[in-house]
Amino acid sequence: MGTIEDVKERIDIVDLVSQYVALKKAGRGYTALCPFHSERTASFHVDPSRQTWHCFGACGTGGDIFRFIMKKDGVEFRDALHTLAERAGVALDQRRDPVEDAHRARLYEINEAAAAFFHSTLLESDAAHAARAYLEERRLADSSVERFQLGYAPNTWEALLQHLAARGFDAKDVRNAGLAVEGDRGAYDRFRHRLMFPIRDDRGRIAGFGGRILPGDALGAGDVHAKYVNTAQSPIFDKGSLLYALDLAKDAIRAQGAVIVEGYMDAIAAHEHGFANVVASMGTALTERQVTLLKRYTRSLTLALDADAAGSEATLRGVEVVAGAVDRESTPQVDWRGVIRQQETLAADIRVLTMPAGRDPDETIRADPDRWRVLVTEARPVLDHLFETTASRHDLSSPRERSEVATQLLPLVAAVGDRVVQSHYLQRLARIVQVDEQMLRLDLRRARSAAAPRRPASTGPGELDIARVVNPLVHDAREEFCLALLFRYPELRAEGLDITPELFAQSENRALFDAWLEWSDEGESFEASLAPDLRPQFERVVNLDLPSFDDDALARALRSTIGRIEQQRLRLAKRASVAVIADLAAAGGAQIAERALAAWRSGGHDAHGPEDEADPAAAFVEDMEAGLKVHQQLLEQQRGTGHPAR
Ligand code: UTP
Ligand code: MN
Repeated sequence: MGTIEDVKERIDIVDLVSQYVALKKAGRGYTALCPFHSERTASFHVDPSRQTWHCFGACGTGGDIFRFIMKKDGVEFRDALHTLAERAGVALDQRRDPVEDAHRARLYEINEAAAAFFHSTLLESDAAHAARAYLEERRLADSSVERFQLGYAPNTWEALLQHLAARGFDAKDVRNAGLAVEGDRGAYDRFRHRLMFPIRDDRGRIAGFGGRILPGDALGAGDVHAKYVNTAQSPIFDKGSLLYALDLAKDAIRAQGAVIVEGYMDAIAAHEHGFANVVASMGTALTERQVTLLKRYTRSLTLALDADAAGSEATLRGVEVVAGAVDRESTPQVDWRGVIRQQETLAADIRVLTMPAGRDPDETIRADPDRWRVLVTEARPVLDHLFETTASRHDLSSPRERSEVATQLLPLVAAVGDRVVQSHYLQRLARIVQVDEQMLRLDLRRARSAAAPRRPASTGPGELDIARVVNPLVHDAREEFCLALLFRYPELRAEGLDITPELFAQSENRALFDAWLEWSDEGESFEASLAPDLRPQFERVVNLDLPSFDDDALARALRSTIGRIEQQRLRLAKRASVAVIADLAAAGGAQIAERALAAWRSGGHDAHGPEDEADPAAAFVEDMEAGLKVHQQLLEQQRGTGHPAR
């Protein structure tokens, strides 16, 4: 069973962050525009040697891989842990919470009952004639309606609520399942007058629903007019972790690889015509969790993209697309670098199937199933696809455009892990842009260093014992020592309550400490109060070898450890800020040197002009001044006392 440390060992901060921002090498680390606020100069820093990030701009905060995801997705440690564990392919120990299990089981039950209600309403109710007519118009086979258990949500405010109440589910349950909404006058049905698609997980349990608008209702903004409405997010429904029809497609996927389409209707049409290896991503960019799910059955994934999406620019931006839902109104975009990375990190083989312009898989398959068959066999490896579309969009007789092609494609080639494969594409790129391959190789190295695979730093002698046996990038010996004291010695509780949680830079330690702050020492034991995810880390910390302390030494040990952690944190922050400032100031280097010299000459007294507070150069000069002052004092001491200063 995997643990937090396995996750940390497998995910490199540079790798992770560079999926969302373009990192630039600066000193021993990297700088970038902060992904969390908009800014024009880079104040975001990543330190690979410590596996940390820091924003010196508006955020003024930083942390490790978990905190990055927590901040980016606005989630708790637990969710960030699960996201990253999935990404790292680490199965966390799910010592389950029985209460939570029961809660989830009830949600599945409600969904099951709701699906049965919608389904029988579709088949039997007079009110559903419009829905039935629509299915006919779409030429959906009765067998598909059955197989996918399609349904109809009647055009009333509480038909479902009443139906479920009669079966022992109260409004609160129904709300928890994301099927009802709380209004001023009580709960009402979320889905009204919609064609209902139950969305099942890979094990066939209904996690949620998609409800399609029916003809006659105006499409538009807001839930009422959206083409599809989904169940609200719930403990069992998270769109990005599900693939529509996967429960029915598993076996075929094992045999033939997976084809991923966008829509419910597309997947249903495919299955209806015997293409049983098709699943739908439900309109959002394919997530890593979805790829990970599919990887249980196959490595071969084919993305069926409409012509616009398939031809979309091979841009390096990706934040919006990966992180959020695709804006259905705008031109479809695919985060190609994200796709390549998924391919590499997850060792999948991803191909692109380009749909004929203006046609989706549903229409294509219904018009001519053989055409679909051909399209699938013609799908090309994602990089081949990108090379071709990028080259065809540019005038390769123009040097400027060739350079642009290189700029777009090189980072994608850089993301390829296999050297032989990479070499192949590099040669190909060299031919296209008419540049010597060796030159490209140099650029490639530069591009790749922004995504260097994780190399744990070696540990020197003289560090704490635990630091020698474990990867210091994964465990912070001082933080753990501090927690061990708190957990083992109840008499330190009062003192511990004064520690600021920010002391703990490692998210799992911070989460443990937060839990300890919240825990009341009157009730259950601290360990019993912990979420299962945190228990392995608790166990290792609480079992650390500690020297024996008398009372006095105990409090001193705690305080001095806290002091050292703080010093260390200041040092690291300093190092990062110097890198950011040095990077920013690189252009104005001579000017800064001059000002520093002036500061030196005036004995550090009057170096300040009316500098702008936000001027990074000013901060740099301040730093240098401080250093010079110290240096000057040491020199003076040395002269005065005759002792060598050091
Ligand atoms: P499409 O607009 O292609 O829908 O969106 P579709 O499934 O092909 O449906 P028809 O053929 O127009 O009836 C593709 C998928 O994107 C998600 C749904 O999962 C849909 O199947 N989607 C789309 C939403 O979640 N919300 C929307 O408003 C639109
Ligand atoms: Mn469609």
